[in-house]
Amino acid sequence: MEGNILIVDDDDIVVKSCDSVLAPEGFTITGTTDSSKAIELIRDNDYDIVITDLNMPGIDGFELIRQINALKPSTGIVVITGFTSQQNIKDILQLGIIDYISKPFSPHTLLETILKATYLIKKIKALSTAEPDTEPDAKKKTEALNNIIDEYKSVPGSLLRVLESAQDLIGYLPPSVQRFIANGLRIPVSEVYSVVSFYPYFTMKARGKHHIRVCVGNACHAKKSGQILTRLKRNLNFNEDNITADGKFSFETVRCLGACGFAPIVEIDYDTHGAVDPDKTLDILKDYH
Ligand code: FES
Repeated sequence: MEGNILIVDDDDIVVKSCDSVLAPEGFTITGTTDSSKAIELIRDNDYDIVITDLNMPGIDGFELIRQINALKPSTGIVVITGFTSQQNIKDILQLGIIDYISKPFSPHTLLETILKATYLIKKIKALSTAEPDTEPDAKKKTEALNNIIDEYKSVPGSLLRVLESAQDLIGYLPPSVQRFIANGLRIPVSEVYSVVSFYPYFTMKARGKHHIRVCVGNACHAKKSGQILTRLKRNLNFNEDNITADGKFSFETVRCLGACGFAPIVEIDYDTHGAVDPDKTLDILKDYH
């Protein structure tokens, strides 16, 4: 995994330890024990991730995070902290960081956290440069989305509700919509992306009027879910986005829907169909108009 990382900690041992774990994994590492120097480095370079301590002499981690967010808002921040009470963690996460590592930490924890953070930050950068979607009624939908945001923006913890309403309105949550919501709610786009990618309910891709999920997990595969998939593809003529030409159906494959005893499983919208006979795949679609 490639990634350009700055480590800021007044303890040289921490800087060197992080370097010794991450550099062999292919990351490009710069380390400093001086947080004022860190600000200069951030101004002059583009880091994917800044790993920072919170308690440092001079400019502390809190101020450093504020400055990173002002100077290079697309930088991912991972905090190293010795304070792990619930309140502290909540305060730290509200600074707009990607993740935190509690001291003392193992090389495995460090590597796993940084791999996840780097993956996430690259996705977020791709979101920020994605072209906005254009559709004929985009203006109307933008106004409606603005109304939803206005209704919820002063309600703490309302992101899920906004995303749910936005998905009902638009049908899915493409990068441009996620960015729009992040700007409207004045929260980092990373927060919106994390929620959208965490909940299977949300989708970043367009769907048909009825969405089919075919389970291809082990139990369903053993009971011939592959044949269900083949019949759907052969008869419904999906395009490259897995949507039929009339927009009526879309499909995706999933790994285990948690009902293995009734394999093979097909979900359509909110309905679960168990023990589906592949020969009768098309019959279960007849109830969806
Ligand atoms: S493998 Fe299909 S429901 Fe578990």
